[in-house]
This record gives sequence, structure tokens and C-alpha cells, in this order.
Amino acid sequence: MARVVFTPSGLDGDVPAGTSVLDAARRCGVDLDSVCGGRGICGRCQVELHPGSYAKWAIEVDDASLSPFTDTEQAYADRKGLKPDRRLGCSALVVGDVVVDVPAESQVHRPVVRKSLDLTDVVLDPAVHVAYLELPPSVLGDAASMSDLVLAELADRPHVAADRLTTTVLRDVHRAFAGQDRSATVAVRRRGDGAPGEVVAVWPGFVERVVGVAVDIGSTTIAGHLCDLASGEVLSSAGRMNPQIRFGEDLMSRVSYVMMNPGGDRELTTAVRRALQELVVQLCDDAGVTTDLVLEVVLVGNPIMHHVVAGIDPTPLGQAPFTLATADALVAPATEFELGLPHAQVYLAPCIAGHVGADTAAVILSEGPHRSATTQLLVDVGTNAEIVVGDEHRQFAASSPTGPAFEGAQLSCGQRATAGAIERVRIDPATLEPRFKVIGCDLWSDEPGFADATADLGISGICGSGIIEVVGEMFLAGIIDADGVVQGALADRSPRVRPDGRTFRYVVHDQDGVQLGITQNDVRAIQLAKAALRAGIELLFRHAGVAAVADIRLAGAFGSHIDPVYALVLGLVPDCPVDRVRSVGNAAGAGAVRALLSMAARREMERAVRGVEKIETATEPDFQAEFVAAMAFPHATAPSPELSRVVVLPERTSTPADAGRSGRRRRARGEHT
Ligand code: FES
Repeated sequence: MARVVFTPSGLDGDVPAGTSVLDAARRCGVDLDSVCGGRGICGRCQVELHPGSYAKWAIEVDDASLSPFTDTEQAYADRKGLKPDRRLGCSALVVGDVVVDVPAESQVHRPVVRKSLDLTDVVLDPAVHVAYLELPPSVLGDAASMSDLVLAELADRPHVAADRLTTTVLRDVHRAFAGQDRSATVAVRRRGDGAPGEVVAVWPGFVERVVGVAVDIGSTTIAGHLCDLASGEVLSSAGRMNPQIRFGEDLMSRVSYVMMNPGGDRELTTAVRRALQELVVQLCDDAGVTTDLVLEVVLVGNPIMHHVVAGIDPTPLGQAPFTLATADALVAPATEFELGLPHAQVYLAPCIAGHVGADTAAVILSEGPHRSATTQLLVDVGTNAEIVVGDEHRQFAASSPTGPAFEGAQLSCGQRATAGAIERVRIDPATLEPRFKVIGCDLWSDEPGFADATADLGISGICGSGIIEVVGEMFLAGIIDADGVVQGALADRSPRVRPDGRTFRYVVHDQDGVQLGITQNDVRAIQLAKAALRAGIELLFRHAGVAAVADIRLAGAFGSHIDPVYALVLGLVPDCPVDRVRSVGNAAGAGAVRALLSMAARREMERAVRGVEKIETATEPDFQAEFVAAMAFPHATAPSPELSRVVVLPERTSTPADAGRSGRRRRARGEHT
């Protein structure tokens, strides 16, 4: 007998000398991967041997602790390469007491590392595992079916025990094993509660990788990530516009389209499914894999997208009481979703309420307020803002109808965040002169070379983050007051402030016939949007019994580009230490990838979502008062001590007692001065 200790787990056991390291790992409960069943083909079982003295276990390790390097290992090393201290666990035999290291990439449940998506702490636990099989030759008189042979081969392999083959697989199984060595790779999808899985795909020979796709279906954009289900690696990412835009810019106009056009729901469903199908093909092409290797699809989206992609009529979600057909996660074959993926299964994440969807569920999974000891405020800003407040004990969620202003839509100079859009703005408070940056150029507009660098781009508009900055800077420079009124008196001081009918506007860029500026109506649109968001936050705070938070996370494409300082200047979010307000990027996409890579993450999301308390802010009696107070910059009544540490806020001209009147006064002055 020999003692084997596995690091880093520290699991150990005694095995008969001559046992393979892979078998020893299984006996000791060590997480060592194997796809080819020990045939020296997959290379997933690699372990490291580091000769030396291990006092902790009183074991001396040298090269003779394992059997000599085998021909199988040499063949693998010639084919794929093998680092000098590595051995194949299925080939190397235990000779004497030994300490064996299992590198992270050889663990079935390895941690996933991916920088552009925050996948911190994700531990691989996919719904599907693959196994390479070589079946014994069939002889006449042998009663075993192909199904019997495959299931018997899988029986004693970890993670792939199965009790049935799907009909699709039964159709393919003879052909797949028809090669001379009767070899094929099968994919086994787990069922819950440790029950045997089912064989859902079969390919001839050895298949290196199977993949899954996670997609965030936004009202405007559909963004997807394709991942290797065995390594967790994100192999490709891509996005495209949601083609439903042709039925309406915002969600409610799409629901109206369905209400007014018989069969409109089917049109919306077909459009989004077709876009999904094209996106998956693009992701596969980019990653160099074929679509038949896609085995899992995770979809997240707002409640209307959730229903439409599932083929469920979304009209009940367009009117109170916003009743969902189901809030539960949906699982169905991808063929039902017409995605052109013969072996894949779709997991449609759960919704929280009729106005807070599976995208928010994914943000919660990604950011983890339910795992946090301190209170988090999560804001996902789009045409609707989803808001979550909570900690490990309780979580509250609401949605606020901010409209498309934050995305630049319906503003005089607004445009989507594409090349040529102004995205950063600074205004000199003394001269009121602006300088700015545009997407596609690293230079500020007052730096040498800017004109040449942007000549081809064309400066065409101001995107959402640019609008937030320019309005924030206008407030800091005194061009608008706390009520949002453009100060016409400044027209004498700066040619940038110009009359605009009965109000004034501030011109950021005026060149070659292109004039981009912020009008009084633009400021007003931003105020309405931010007041809806902030009122929602304040009401959630009240429900949660929270006065302030020191952890604010801005999610979504827009949130990831907002400078936290300006989010505070505008009062989008409550006062908070500036360094505790951060952008978390595409948290819904990151949550979808987590659900793709881990069944445990799916269960966690489903549990978390069930515990969330939903608040219908628009019908709260105090919504109107909160909304009015939130119209002012940064806010009519809430102080901003933390923000004041980093910027000089203009003196308040109104007192908190004026708050209730400020909205009316602002409107009067905004429209008639
Ligand atoms: Fe596949 Fe060892 S298990 S090479």
C-alpha cells in the first residue's frame, strides 16, 4: 500500500501500489477531471509531481514515487505538449508514498477567471459533462443494445452516470460509433438531486470542447458570451441590435403594437429568436466551433423580453397589475425556441415581478446583495431603471420608468454611444468654455491634433454619459441652477449661452454647421428621468429602513460609462463616499454567464429571487412628493456632505422648505422666462 496526498485539497488515502493517480484521486474524493476515461487522449487529468521532502505528511517524494513516463504520455506530449513536471493522472501509477498536486485546470470544479466580465468566485458546476467512449465490438448473439453499451461505459465514471439516451441521440448513436475503433464522445446532462443524467448528444471520435451561450436580451441590444463548458473560459462575445426596435423604441410601444396588431406577439417572438440564432452563429464562428457543440443556452432579460422570447403574450405586462405568466425559471429544449441548436437546452432565468425581470435576477446573482454583510444599492439604468437595495438579510426591488433620456434619445443632441458621440465634458466655471472628448478619439477637444483626429469621425451628438456630464458640469459652473433653469443672464457673459425661443440653451460644439447643445427641454427631460430613478431609490430605502449606503453599484451599458461624481452631482443616486460608487459593467451578462457555468449558481439565483420583496413605487402614496424633491440638483432636501468633499457645489438658493414648490417654480421659469 502507498499513501497518496493530493494538494491543494489535502485529501489523502492509502491505495495499493500500482493504482493510477486518477483512480487514487477518485478513491480519495479528489476533484480530478477525465473526459476520455483514462485513454490518454483528453489530457484533462494532468497532475504535477514536485520532488522534495514534505514534513507535514512525513513523505519524501522523488521521480520514482510514480511509475516511469509511459508511451501514452509521450504520445500525448508529442501531440499536445506536456510541461516537464506534468504527468497524465490516468497513466502514472502510484509506486510509493507520494504528494501529487492537482493544478486548477485539471479540476472539474475549477474556479473561473475572466477579467472583462466579473466572474469572481464562480466555481464550475455545469449542467453538462462530456465523456469519450470506446465501445467493445458487438458480436452476433450479443443482446446488448447500443444504449446498453453506452450506459454501461458511463456507469462508473464520475459526473456522467446516465440512465437514458434522448431520441435524438438514439438516431445518431450507430453512426457516431461506426468508426473502426468504435469511439465517440457523448454529452450527459445532469438531472437534479444526484439522479442519473441523460445522454443528450453524441459525436464520432474525440470532441475537444463543448460550449454554452449566455445572452442578455435588452430592449435595445442583445449581448451574448460563448463559453467553454469544461474550462469556463469565455471564448467569444458579441452583440447586436434588438430587431424589435422596428416595432417600437421602448417596451410599452412594442406591447401596444401587440395589442393593436393581431399576431403581433408572434412577430416580436420571431424577430428576437432570429436575432438570437444569428448571434449564436456569430459567437460560434468567432470561437471556431460548430453550433452542434452548443449544449446550454442561458437567457436573461426584462419581463417583456422574457415572455416574448418564450412565445408568451406580453400584453398583461403592459398594464396594471402587470401579472406575469410565470416568475419561475423556464427550462426547455432549444428547438422549442427555434434557435437551430439540436442538442442545446434553454434556461430562461426567473423574473422577480411584472416589472423587474430576469436581467435583474442575473444582476443580483452577479453582485450578490444577498451575500453582502453591508447594504448594497444596485441600479441598472436603461429605459427602465431597476433598483435593488439590500443585504444578506433582506432585499427589495423596484423598477422606475426613467424613459429613454439617459440613452440620449429624445434629446435635441442625443445619440447612441457610437463613434463621434461626445462622451466626456468639462466646463471652465470662469469662462464657461467647454472641452470634451468623443468616442473614438483619446484627445480632449482643446488638445493639439484633436481636429485632425476627429475629422473622419465627425462629431455628431452627445451620448448618455456625455449628457450626464454636461448637465452636471452646467450645474457646477452655475449655467443651470438647482432647479435646472438655464441662466439666461449668462448670455451677456458667454456666447455659449444662447436664446432658444423663450428659454436658453448652452452650446457645447459649434463647427462646420454642426451645433450641439443642451436646451432647457433637454435639462428638463434629464430631470424627469433622474427624479423617477431617485424617487424609486428613496422609496426602497424607506421600505428597507435604510438611511444611507456606502456601496452603490451602477450596472448596464450606461451605468458602466457614468462617472460616479456626476451621478452624485445630478443626484441620480443618494450621497455616498465617491469611491464607494462604482460601475460594475454588464452585470446582467456576467450573471447569465455564472448561471451558464454553474448549476449551483442557478439554484442560488432562484432562491435569492424568491426572497426579494417587490415594491410597486409608482402607486406608493409618497411617490409624487419624492419625485418633486428629486427634480432638483442634486436633491431638494437630501444633503450632500460626501459629494462636497470632492466638488464645490453651488450655494443652495432654495431651502428644504421650498422643496415642495421647487418643481412648480422650475416649470414656470423653465418655460416662460
Ligand atoms: Fe484523458 Fe487521462 S483521462 S488523458
